[in-house]
Order: sequence, then structure tokens, then C-alpha cells
Amino acid sequence: FLDGIPDAPPDPILSLRTLYEEDPAEKKLNVSVGAYRTDEGKSYVLPVVKEVETMMLDDPSLNHEYLPVEGLKEFRDATAKLAFGEDSLAIREGRCVTVQALSGTGALRVGLEFLSRFYAQGAKVYIPEQSWPLHRRIPPLSGMGEVGLYRYFNADTKGVDFTGLMEDISHAPNGSIIVLHPCAHNPTGADLSFDEWKRLCTVIAEKGHLPFFDAAYQGFATGDLIRDRFALEYFASQGIELMLSQSYAKNMGLYGERTGALSVIVSDKSIVDRVLTQLKQVIRPMYSSPPAHGARIAATILNNPVLFDKWNGELKLMSGRILEMRTALKLALQKLQTPGSWDFLEKQIGMFSYTGLTGPEVDFIQEKYHIYMMRNGRISMAGLTTSTVDYLAGAMHDAVLN
Ligand code: LMR
Repeated sequence: FLDGIPDAPPDPILSLRTLYEEDPAEKKLNVSVGAYRTDEGKSYVLPVVKEVETMMLDDPSLNHEYLPVEGLKEFRDATAKLAFGEDSLAIREGRCVTVQALSGTGALRVGLEFLSRFYAQGAKVYIPEQSWPLHRRIPPLSGMGEVGLYRYFNADTKGVDFTGLMEDISHAPNGSIIVLHPCAHNPTGADLSFDEWKRLCTVIAEKGHLPFFDAAYQGFATGDLIRDRFALEYFASQGIELMLSQSYAKNMGLYGERTGALSVIVSDKSIVDRVLTQLKQVIRPMYSSPPAHGARIAATILNNPVLFDKWNGELKLMSGRILEMRTALKLALQKLQTPGSWDFLEKQIGMFSYTGLTGPEVDFIQEKYHIYMMRNGRISMAGLTTSTVDYLAGAMHDAVLN
């Protein structure tokens, strides 16, 4: 009965890894997926994570029982504080509901499915014109309909098109759901300034929109967890309702452990229990309960000041290496006198750089140099190393001149 089944299109990010692995070329490079690599090009287990895992091996209180549907309590409490601040008024007033989720993707899916059941019918989800591909796909699959787009990126300045963004957010029907990247925007690497966040918050509050933050890079943008949460902390402090998905894939390197959370800040404490029970209703038939291992690691690090400090140091190290790669790539392109200004490479922030390379240029680079990047010209700076910078710069130079 499946004779007529059509092929599904390949995933624009994950399929590149397979192509890269299957490529027999001796010299090849993968700068597609947003996953941190060391300067030797190796995947990385954070030493603090290893330390916790070693402690766990000898902990007789641990077992493989199910977690509750809503996840590990110590993790849920700590992750909300990491996002909104220790002193967050919303948390102190008991207006924040947090459930563990299957990393950021799972949190978005649960959150949007929850909204499709209980948020105003017909409300549309708006995402940035340039965004992580799943932001477009998850809302319709969660019952929210096709997404709307708001302007985000200015191709000339390679920064945020803040005027366009504000216009589009102001013109969206009142009560729309606005997906926002609080830091290290994926794919453009262009973030709003603190002042722009404040202005955006005013418009969102006036319009009665519901912001849905997707925080996949806290601590990864600047190496400073507090600086990177500015938007979250600020919006929450303004007393508006909001949603948040969090992922510990990048900042703790727990990619495969699917460690994340969904938080909902509501206007009144009396609603919290109802929200929690309904979120559990979404989760239980979807995957029953979340995985324990990553959440235990994250909870241990978040709740122990010594380990927390170590983690901060490691975040600085990882984000610092990414900054070094930005500078190195810029200098290499300047040395080659590749047409264009490459200063933006250093200004953009987080794991990704939006190079401005066109689809045909990306194809050319893939074919001739066996370098794999997203077709929209996004490269993962974290996939680059001191010894591969010149190779990438040379390929980009060739593509631009071709
Ligand atoms: C990326 O954008 O490369 C990462 O967020 C990985 C993913 O799941 O797409």
C-alpha cells in the first residue's frame, strides 16, 4: 500500500553531513551543522560534563526509572532561573511554568501544539524572514497554520533591518505569536541591540502579541550567560506573557541528549497549574516523558556554584575560539583581496556567519572544493579550524570571482 509513496525532500542542514561523510575526496570540510568542534576539528565533550558524568557513575541514588511527564524538577527550576534571572519577578510571583523538553525543537513543538489548543483561533505565528528552517515547518505541523514572515536582515549592512522588523511587527494582527531569537541569530549572526530589544518589547506589549523566544545559544554568543539573556530577562521583567524554548545542545555540548525546556510566563499565578496540566496532556501521548541523563547533567551544573563557574569558563573558551575563526577568515579573505568588505564576519555573532554567498556559489564550492555549507550561504564558524581557514577563504575567493 506504500507503492505510491514519494521521496521526502532532504533536510537542508542535516543532509549535508551525510553528503560530507560520503564524499570520498581527501580534502573536504564540513561547515554546515551548528555543532562546536575543537581547533583539531573534533567534536567536544565539555570537561565539566565529563566530571559530572564521572560523579554520576558512582551515585547509588541514580537509576533508570521514568522521569515525570514534566521532567526533572531540579532541572526545570534551574533552567528557568538561568533564562530569566535568579531574581526574576515572574518566577518569584510563581507565574512561570517550565517543563523539560526534547531540546529546543521539542520545546517548540510542545509549545506550539499547546498554543494551537488554547491560544486565540486563527492567530498566526510570525518568524524572521531568515530563520532556522524548522521555525517554518513546526507551526503548521503543530496545528498553527502556515507562518508569516517579518523582515529581519539587511543584506547591505549585513545587520538587522530594524526599521523593517518594527514595521512588520506593528502591522501584524494584534495577538500574533512572534518567534524571536534572543541571541546569536541563526542563520544571520545579526542581533538586536539592547535598546532595540526594549523598543521591540514596547510594540509587542502594545499590540498584545505573544513573544515566543527560541534560545539555543545562551552563553554561546558572547561567552556571557547574563549578557546573552538580556532580551529574556527584559521582556519577563515587563510583566508580559511569553513563551521560551531552551536548548543545552550547544552551550553544554549535549546535542544528542535532547536536553531542553519550555517555559510559559503567564499573567497570574492562578493559571499556572492549568497550564502545567495541559502541557502534560500534550507531552504524554507524544513521547510520554523526557530522557533523564542530559537533564541530570545540566541540573547538577546549574545548581552547583563550582561546576557552574567551570561551565562559564568553558563557554568563554568555545565562544572565544569562534571569535578567533571570524577574525582569521576575515583576514584571509582580505589578504586574498577577495572583492567585497568582510568586516561583517567579525561583527556577526554566535556560531554562524551569513556570508552573502549565493546558491550557485555554494554549489560551486561544494563541487570543486568539497566544502559543505548551507545553500543560503550560512557557514558554521565552529566547524572551522586554524588549519582550514585558508582553504575556505581560497574557495570563497574563487567562487566570488567565478
Ligand atoms: C543548526 O542550525 O545547524 C543546528 O541548530 C542544528 C539543527 O538541528 O538544525
